[in-house]
Parts: sequence; structure tokens; C-alpha cells
Amino acid sequence: MTKDPLVEQARAAALQAYAPYSRFSVGCAIESVDGEIAVGANLENACYRLGICAEIAALTAAQQAFGLGRIARIAVAGGHVGADGALAGTAPVTPCGGCRQAILEAAHVSGRDLEVVSANGDGTDVAVHRISELIPLGFGPANLEDAGS
Ligand code: THU
Repeated sequence: MTKDPLVEQARAAALQAYAPYSRFSVGCAIESVDGEIAVGANLENACYRLGICAEIAALTAAQQAFGLGRIARIAVAGGHVGADGALAGTAPVTPCGGCRQAILEAAHVSGRDLEVVSANGDGTDVAVHRISELIPLGFGPANLEDAGS
């Protein structure tokens, strides 16, 4: 099977992770409707709960590079850095719950049910989902219409 370039970009991005506590490196690559790419990696902190996921890092990069409304596709890959310096690992990384909520927001902005490609560290096992599958019945902007004025 041909490798998905977006997955390879997510795997490369993971090599820039700052993950000294979990030793679990995650990369995320986001493709615009015009084929531009923005990437991010997880950024941990000695105060553990302040850690930032790769998807959030990549979403902020995409926001600056081409805007949330132009996001077309998102790839995530995670694992450990192997002896050869490449990302390795067996289980595909599907975004955590918080990241699903953040991707859902971008989906609302873009008006697209965004495709999320989840890859293992090796890049050999890939699962493709829509954000609506990953976070069914998600809370979104429409819910806030019931807020008081
Ligand atoms: N992590 C991500 O970056 N994205 C996810 O979707 C799952 C988890 C990071 C957070 C933390 O730095 C490490 O992986 C272990 O949980």
C-alpha cells in the first residue's frame, strides 16, 4: 500500500515532541484544502497537567498558516523514538477526548466533517475516521444558542 504523505509528516513531527515524562511522542499534521501543511507535537511540562497534545499544537499552527476554515484532513501518529531515530510503535493513536472536541470546533468552522487519519508509530497501521464518528453527539456552537443574552 502507498504511504500517505500526511501520515509521514505526522511521524516526522513527532520527532520534535518534548515528552521527557511520558516518553510517548505524538505528531500531528494538518492539510489545508490547498495542500498546505501545518504540524505540531506534544509539549509536556514538569507540572504534568499543563502538557499540550500534538493535535492542539498543530491546530494553532494551522490557524496561523491557513486558518481553521481551510482545514481538510488531519493525521496523528504516536509512539517512541526507535534506535534508528524514527518513530516506532504498534498501536494507531486516535486523538484523546479533549483533542476530539478541539477538532470538532475546527470542523464547525470549516463546515466539513473532517477526516482524521490515526497511525501507529511505525506508520504501518492506519485507521481513518470522520470527526463525527470520533465524537458523536459532541457539544458545539449550536448548543450555545440557548445561552442568555
Ligand atoms: N498525547 C497527544 O499528544 N495526543 C493525543 O491524542 C493523546 C496523547 C500526548 C499527551 C502526552 O504528552 C503523551 O501523549 C502521553 O499521554
